[in-house]
Amino acid sequence: MLGSAFALALAAASQIVAAQYCEHQWEGDFADHDVDGVPYLQAEERIAAPPLEIRPLIVTGPSSNRVDLIFFGDGYTEDEKDKFFDDAMILATNLTDGQTFADVLPLMNFWAGFSASNESGVGVGGRPRDTVYGLYRDGTELRGVYYSKASVARAACQSTDACDYPILLGNDPYYGGLGGTFTVVTASPANGPAVLRHELGHSIIGVGEEYDGGQVYRGVNAATSVNSVPWRNWYTNPATEPKIQRNNMPIQAYPWTLLDASRPWSTTFTSAGTYDSFLLQFSISGVTATSDLRVELDGRDVGWEVNPIVGLDRWIYNMKFNESLAPGRHTLSYTLLNEEIEGTAQLCNLEIVEYGDDPEEFTFESQYHSLFPTYSATNSTTYRPTNDHCLMRTMHSPNFCDACIEGLWWSLLRPLSFFDSVTQVPEADGFTNVTLTLLPLAEFREIPRGAEAYTILWYGANSQPLAEWTNQTTALISQDLSQVSVQVSFWTEQVRSDPSGVLSDRRTITIE
Ligand SMILES: *[C@@H]1O[C@H](CO)[C@@H](O)[C@H](O)[C@H]1NC(C)=O
Ligand SMILES: *[C@@H]1O[C@H](CO)[C@@H](O)[C@H](O)[C@H]1NC(C)=O
Ligand SMILES: *[C@@H]1O[C@H](CO)[C@@H](O)[C@H](O)[C@H]1NC(C)=O
Ligand SMILES: *[C@@H]1O[C@H](CO)[C@@H](O)[C@H](O)[C@H]1NC(C)=O
Ligand SMILES: *[C@@H]1O[C@H](CO)[C@@H](O)[C@H](O)[C@H]1NC(C)=O
Ligand SMILES: *[C@@H]1O[C@H](CO)[C@@H](O)[C@H](O)[C@H]1NC(C)=O
Repeated sequence: MLGSAFALALAAASQIVAAQYCEHQWEGDFADHDVDGVPYLQAEERIAAPPLEIRPLIVTGPSSNRVDLIFFGDGYTEDEKDKFFDDAMILATNLTDGQTFADVLPLMNFWAGFSASNESGVGVGGRPRDTVYGLYRDGTELRGVYYSKASVARAACQSTDACDYPILLGNDPYYGGLGGTFTVVTASPANGPAVLRHELGHSIIGVGEEYDGGQVYRGVNAATSVNSVPWRNWYTNPATEPKIQRNNMPIQAYPWTLLDASRPWSTTFTSAGTYDSFLLQFSISGVTATSDLRVELDGRDVGWEVNPIVGLDRWIYNMKFNESLAPGRHTLSYTLLNEEIEGTAQLCNLEIVEYGDDPEEFTFESQYHSLFPTYSATNSTTYRPTNDHCLMRTMHSPNFCDACIEGLWWSLLRPLSFFDSVTQVPEADGFTNVTLTLLPLAEFREIPRGAEAYTILWYGANSQPLAEWTNQTTALISQDLSQVSVQVSFWTEQVRSDPSGVLSDRRTITIE
C-alpha cells in the first residue's frame, strides 16, 4: 500500500484499460494455503523484481487505505500485453459488476502488472515454460495450476505498494487455479471468474470449503456441531434452529480418468432408500457434443446434455432428480460414444447427494440459512449455512452466503480506516474549516448498493459534543479549540455483529 502506485494510477487514469474445481471440484485448491488470510509475503529476497508495467483496473482510492488486489501476468509475451490487460480487466469486472464483491468494492482496488514472458501459455506435465513466474499443470488435467518461481512472484509483489493480494494470471484458456499466498487463476472464459472469486474467498475471508469432498472446513461458514454455529445471527427462521437439514452422500469419487470408447467407466454405490430426491453431480472436460457421451444410472440414460459454451474446458454438471433412489445397490456408468476424442475426454469427479422430504426435512430455497451437512474427503460431517447459494460450495454461483459477506466486511475493514483524509483550511474569521473524506460507502458510494449509513459525531474539548456538525463531513472549528475529535460509525445491513470493532473509527485532529 502507499502513494507511488496510486500516483501512477492517477497519471494513468486517463488511459485506463477498458481494460473447482476438480479434487471434487477444486483439486489443488488448498495446497500452500494459509487460511488466516494474511499472505506470506514479507520474506526478504535477493531476487530482483521483474520489470513491471502496472495499470489500474478498478481504483476506488489510495492504496494506503484500500485492500489492493493485483494481477501478475504469466505466459503472456510482449505481443500479448494487450491480451493480458484485457484478461485481467474481464476478471476484475466479473467479480465486481453487480455481484460477488460489489458490496465491498469501495474498500478494494484492482491493478494489473505486466512483465513479458519469453514463451506463451502455461506448462503441462509438471514442466513450466520459460515464463516470468513459471506456472504449470501436473499432467494435462484441468485442475491445479502451480507456480515454480515463488521468489520472483514475491519480489514482484514487494516492488509495489498495491499488492495485498497477489494473483498470478496464467495465459491459458482452460480451468485451473490454486489458493494460497499467491492466488493462481487462468484466463478460462467459462471458469476463470468462478475460480478466482472462490480462491479469494479463501484468502480474504479465511474460510474453508463448503463443497463435499474437501479437506478444510473452518471459519464463518463452518460449524462442527449444532452447538457452535457461527452464523446463528443469519438463520432465516431462528425459531426452528438449530435444525440439521436431512441429506446423505452415498458416493463421491475422483476418477480423473480418460474415457475409453471400448469400455464404459462405471462404479456402484448403495442407497438406504429413505430419501425423497437426489442430485447427480459430475465434471468432465474434453467433451463438446451431447452425442459423444452417455451417462446412465442403473442402465437408464439420465439425459445428460453438454454445456455448449465450454468447449474443451471442464464443466460441472448438476442433475437433480425428483425421485427417490431405491434401497440397495446402484450402478453409475459413463460411456464414451466417440472414439475420436479418446485421450481428451475426461471424467474428473462425481458425487450423489440424497435429500429428505422438501420442505419438511430439507429446504431447497436458495438463500435459506440453516444447517446443511457437508461431507469431507474422509466423509466426516460439518455444517454450512445454505444449501448451494454460496460460491464456496457452488462453482457457478456468483454469490457469497450472508455469513461469508459479513466475514468479508470484517476482513476488509480490519486494516483500513474510515478516514481517507482530513484537511484543514483556515477561514478569514479565525475559524478552521475541517473536512473529512471517508471511505466511499453509504451516501458516498458511486454505485448505490444495499442499506448503509454513516453516523458522524464531532467533539470538542473534554469530549463536549459539537452537535451542530453531527453527520457532517465538514465543520467550522473555532480558534478556541486546539483539537477536536470525530467518531465515525458505519452501519450496513450486511453486518450483524462486530466482535473486533471494525465498524467505527475515531480520529483526533489537532487544529493547525
Ligand atoms: C462472469 O463470467 C461468467 C463466465 O465465467 C459469465 O457467464 C457471466 O455472465 C459474467 N458476469 C459478469 C457480471 O461479467
Ligand atoms: C527470457 O530469456 C532471456 C534470455 O534467455 C533471459 O535472460 C530472461 O531471464 C528470460 N525471461 C524470463 C521472464 O524468463
Ligand atoms: C458417509 O457416511 C454416511 C453416514 O454418516 C453414509 O450414509 C454414507 O454412505 C457415507 N458416504 C460415503 C461416500 O462413504
Ligand atoms: C416432486 O415430486 C412430487 C411427487 O411426485 C411432487 O409433488 C412435487 O411437486 C415434485 N417437485 C418438483 C420440484 O417437481
Ligand atoms: C445521523 O445519521 C444516523 C445514520 O443515518 C442517524 O441514525 C441519526 O439519526 C443521524 N443523527 C442526526 C442528529 O441526524
Ligand atoms: C469547508 O470547505 C469546503 C470546501 O470549500 C466546503 O464545501 C464546506 O462547505 C466548508 N465547510 C463548512 C462547514 O463551511
